[in-house]
Amino acid sequence: MRTKYCGKLGLSDVDKTVILCGWVNKIRVFGNIIFIDMRDQEGIVQIFFDGKIIFLKDVLKLKNEFCIQVTGVVRKREKKNINPDLSTGNIEVLAIKLNIINTSEILPLDYKKNNSEELRLKYRYLDLRRPDMVEKIKIRNEIYSTVRSFMKKNKFLEIETPMLTKPTPEGARDYLIPSRIHLGKFYALPQSPQLFKQLLMISGIDRYYQITKCFRDEDLRSDRQPEFTQIDIEMSFIKTIKLRNIMENMIRNLWMKIKKIDLKIFPVITYKEALHRFGSDKPDLRNPIELIDIDDILQDNNNPIFLKFINNDNYRITVLCIPGGNVLSQKKINSYKNLVKQYGAKKLFDIKVNDIELEKKDTKNSIYRFLNKTTLKKIILKTSAKSTDLILLIADKNDIVTRAFGALRLKIGKDINIIKKFSWKPLWIIDFPMFKKNKISTFSPVHHPFTAPKNMTIEQIQKTPEKAIANSYDIVINGYEIGGGSVRNHNKKMQETIFDILGIPIDTQKEKFGFLIDALSYGAPPHAGIAFGLDRLAMLLTDSSNIRDVIAFPKTTAASCLITDAPSNMDSSLLKELSIYINNK
Ligand code: AMO
Repeated sequence: MRTKYCGKLGLSDVDKTVILCGWVNKIRVFGNIIFIDMRDQEGIVQIFFDGKIIFLKDVLKLKNEFCIQVTGVVRKREKKNINPDLSTGNIEVLAIKLNIINTSEILPLDYKKNNSEELRLKYRYLDLRRPDMVEKIKIRNEIYSTVRSFMKKNKFLEIETPMLTKPTPEGARDYLIPSRIHLGKFYALPQSPQLFKQLLMISGIDRYYQITKCFRDEDLRSDRQPEFTQIDIEMSFIKTIKLRNIMENMIRNLWMKIKKIDLKIFPVITYKEALHRFGSDKPDLRNPIELIDIDDILQDNNNPIFLKFINNDNYRITVLCIPGGNVLSQKKINSYKNLVKQYGAKKLFDIKVNDIELEKKDTKNSIYRFLNKTTLKKIILKTSAKSTDLILLIADKNDIVTRAFGALRLKIGKDINIIKKFSWKPLWIIDFPMFKKNKISTFSPVHHPFTAPKNMTIEQIQKTPEKAIANSYDIVINGYEIGGGSVRNHNKKMQETIFDILGIPIDTQKEKFGFLIDALSYGAPPHAGIAFGLDRLAMLLTDSSNIRDVIAFPKTTAASCLITDAPSNMDSSLLKELSIYINNK
């Protein structure tokens, strides 16, 4: 039906006769002359209808979003008529024939305005007509093809794994599918292909990958969807460093291809260091503010308020130095005090560097009752604070200080606009703990139960599981965890030991993971892998702030689809067939 895309026309098409198909984007009528901006997937071109050449009766019937076919001749615009805002702005098409393919009602979306997200999601198919949404879809497509060609070059095999399966423990609730044939039994949709990719390694597949959907019933936020896409990868006989290098290359390759930016070598820091310096295991390194401990400085300060925090491993005395923070209002600082309270920090001291330097002490500020001038000067020296800066101080339990300042660092970074836009700060976080302690003093895995410990024997991990460090790694870019993985347990006994430490009874181990334990006893090779959140990558690569913007048909934060109204009630006969009875109470 078409010979060219509207958005692909240019000077090289001048004098050619073309057939275009698309939608009416805008209409301007000047008596016997009508201009239509015509849009298709590739962009917009101006169509010129001249009453002397074409019968205008049909043209006058046109309204925005009518679907049309135009035959015309491409011509160069006069210099004064060039539109620099349009990629096709130096040409136009002189129409010789118009075919109205389909009419359109007035759209429920106004493309000139910011429509509510609810409306955009309800009429997603119309929202996707907007050029910036088409652009995001194209970039996402570029991610697929770049990854696939990288994988091919690196000898990975693309292999699909089942969607109807058993629960895969990735820390979220499962989406369950009732079985009609096995009444009362359920499949689970995969939270990830974790166990199948491990089985593939045991099958002898050396390098596996898959771009696949994963399903997790968890609280949603701007970078989480219940149904999302992973680039899932597994390799056997591979050292961690080599795997990380290949994966880092893949990410660098994506940024080079799509953004034309060289991400350079990714720094590697340990989980412990990340928490200590940034208060987060996914730090945004574009934010230069760091948590700085000052216990050493306060050693000589005899004030009893700080004494109990010094030389005690359970406590931190830590400051944040806020560049230019001197100008922050008391109201703002009070809001920060409230924020840290939510994390359990009893007090947040604020010190304006200017006040100390000028020695005009604000007597209302309680910090001057606790710290003398020499100590304050040492703090300034350690933080390299300038006279325009603000220093914030908390002395409290380790995790309270870390979490409170981790959150405050992010908040202040946004408030004072310190984060450079369009800059990229990737890094690896390694050496996560194997386990975290639950309230009822059992353990749960920090990554997942199939992760191998780093340098620990079975006996050692049995004795001191809380000390075990995982052989795992995350990639973080600009504060988003875009991928995570680990070396797996290929030793059956180690895997069973880890299940034991996690408090999984033997029969549950057999019932849930018996197939894996069995498989590990048939010459399982050492193997390791990683999975990337493709939607998160797309979000970053399209400069979007929301994962929903890069998914064609996303769910709302309440996990529903506004187009189809899913999830929805089921016909009672269907439920009966599955032996499912709804308890409306
Ligand atoms: P993990 O659970 O860390 O690891 O997931 C890997 C990556 O998937 C992305 N991700 C999500 N993206 C959008 N919405 C979600 N709800 C969501 N949950 C996770 C993140 C994350 O880094 N099987 C392991 C990987 C492995 O060990 O190989 C796994 O799934 O970007």
